[in-house]
Amino acid sequence: MTNSATAVAHANIALAKYWGKRDETLAIPATSSLSLTLDAFHATTTVTVGAEADAGTLDGRPMSEGELGRVSRFLDLVRERAGSTARATVTSESTVPTGAGLASSASGFAALAGAAAAAYGLDLDPRDLSRLARRGSGSAARSVFGGLVVWHGGTDDATSYAEPVPGGEAGGPLDPAMAVVVLDAGQKSVSSRVAMRRTVETSPFFPGWVESTEQDVRLMLDAVAAGDLAALGALAESNALRMHATMLGARPPVRYWTAHTVAVLDEVQALRAEGLPCWATIDAGPNVKVLCSGADLDVVATALARGTDGDEARRVVTARPGPDLRVAA
Ligand code: PMV
Repeated sequence: MTNSATAVAHANIALAKYWGKRDETLAIPATSSLSLTLDAFHATTTVTVGAEADAGTLDGRPMSEGELGRVSRFLDLVRERAGSTARATVTSESTVPTGAGLASSASGFAALAGAAAAAYGLDLDPRDLSRLARRGSGSAARSVFGGLVVWHGGTDDATSYAEPVPGGEAGGPLDPAMAVVVLDAGQKSVSSRVAMRRTVETSPFFPGWVESTEQDVRLMLDAVAAGDLAALGALAESNALRMHATMLGARPPVRYWTAHTVAVLDEVQALRAEGLPCWATIDAGPNVKVLCSGADLDVVATALARGTDGDEARRVVTARPGPDLRVAA
């Protein structure tokens, strides 16, 4: 058994969102979702088995008590399957700002799943790794795969996993790419876990969200199969707005948008009106990710970097489809 392993996983951004669980313990989502794994952001995580107690660093600093607790509980799942009680040391470096709605937990837990499974000697296929990563952070189930990915929501642990969707390759007929408009890379005020639970429990719009998202995923898969980026983009922007509408309906309401977020939404609409096809999506934070064709990426990114709101802090990162999870023992 190898007792140390390193894994690299890339962040993913959902085009049809995961928002709300039907089972909190197993992280079974209320709906299926569809995402694009990005080459621009990744986490590299090493797990070394054999320590006095679980310990970890994140970007060179010791993990906080909360972070380590979450990692330790995840390692317990791996240890349970491996029949081991050995503690481990975890070091993780990420190019994604943590907790800013930029999918840091997706790449982080996918990399942790890959490295921990290998370090504890579990031989898991990609589907099982996706199921395992899901337990750390739902969206991590999708970061096990590169390109376009569908997470089948399922009804239990065995049926809730992600798999790649053909057609998401760079330079292919769809050629999806993203301009990530970073407005605020700080920690969000309400975690997605808390916000989701509050939405499920208190938003009267939640049942409508579940129904329309299942339909969006089916329509998006059709659009991908047809190589129709315009159809995919329009569905993605609408789906993101519906996710935010359902959380605005919670009590107390959850609102991640700032005035800068709205400015970017206006700019994306203006670019479309000028004939440049691009569509916005927003996660659990103020930042906006803009889907476009790889051929238009530089023009879209340049236009968005200019901005209309005089925001000096704005930064735009360009991203193309990223690779599968890689594990090295
Ligand atoms: O995986 P979590 O618990 O961080 O939730 C992710 C939620 C969204 O990013 C808002 C949507 C998604 O599908 O990634």
